[in-house]
Amino acid sequence: MRIAVFASGNGSNFQALVEYFRERGLTDQFVWLFCDQPNAYVLERASKLDISTSVFSPKEFQTKKAYEEKILECLLDKEVDLIVLAGYMRIIGSTLLDQYESRIINIHPSLLPDFPGLHGIRDAFEAGVKKTGVTIHYIDKGVDTGPIICQESVEIKKGDTLEELERRIHQVEHRIYPKVIEQVVKEMKTMEAHIK
Ligand code: GRF
Repeated sequence: MRIAVFASGNGSNFQALVEYFRERGLTDQFVWLFCDQPNAYVLERASKLDISTSVFSPKEFQTKKAYEEKILECLLDKEVDLIVLAGYMRIIGSTLLDQYESRIINIHPSLLPDFPGLHGIRDAFEAGVKKTGVTIHYIDKGVDTGPIICQESVEIKKGDTLEELERRIHQVEHRIYPKVIEQVVKEMKTMEAHIK
């Protein structure tokens, strides 16, 4: 299975994914990192992990469709089977969705459907709820609305700071995202074998 990761920022989940697969000697490969932010730290991580990258942003294109068509061209060129979003801060449009239906997965730092959007951790913290968590889900046309694959809750403790909560959420993300992707890949392979 050939996997691409889309990321816009730090890239700690990207690194956790790649290391998990490599440490276990899994044959599936992370073949491409796509990043829409030229200064994102994830690009350094990719370089250290020796993974090929492309960087461009919608600003360089006349329309979102043209931007996604360029991404699609790269995906097809690299024969990517599965797209994993790891802190990619843009909405996936129909150009990519149509071509990669049920093959784009995202991780979101809240218990969806609660606290969708860009600031899932902060919004839960400020709302004063007692627990929040992490959701891994398929992408559909909405914002953080696609079918849920897995959720794990994280308690918000009395006296927690936002930073402490963020740290614990990221710990959970790094532990569960690679395992879920491993499982999804296995299921995709089983389905493919049935079709053949
Ligand atoms: C994670 O919290 C993820 O849930 C959200 O964006 C953040 C990315 O963190 N979608 P990193 O770039 O992987 O460190």
